[in-house]
Amino acid sequence: MKVLVLNGPNLHLLGQREPSIYGYETLADIETLVERVADDLGVTIECRQSNHEGELVEWIGDARADCDGIVINPAAYTHTSVAIRDAVAASGLPVVELHISNVSARESFRRTSFIAPVCLGMLSGFGVRGYEWAVRALVEHLRRTSKGKTV
Ligand code: DQA
Repeated sequence: MKVLVLNGPNLHLLGQREPSIYGYETLADIETLVERVADDLGVTIECRQSNHEGELVEWIGDARADCDGIVINPAAYTHTSVAIRDAVAASGLPVVELHISNVSARESFRRTSFIAPVCLGMLSGFGVRGYEWAVRALVEHLRRTSKGKTV
């Protein structure tokens, strides 16, 4: 079973970027965390980050071929991107949307997600630990529904 973990714009700056909101852990720390969870669950993880909407759209489209599900932090594109929403819907894969901060408790424009309505579920506000729970929730869903391409 293979899970794609996608991170959107500015998340390469984690650790330096507004640490009072996003903390001091880096993207590399998140990748180490999800690799450890993947080992624990016996699944394969691929992590990617892009600042470009089109690249994220292409990776979501490509995931149909060899991934069983996606965890995505679309970052600012959450609140703007019909293209990413359509890519998620077209993928037919279970997708978990994830945010480090609690987007509901911040500026009003962050309360709208274009992506969440086409996702399996959404996690927000649990810091970087949310990535672990998002992967666990997705794998649990795939195993329960036997939707994994391979077990
Ligand atoms: C974020 C929340 C978004 O509103 C913001 O644009 C981000 C990060 C989060 O993880 O909390 O870049 O997705």
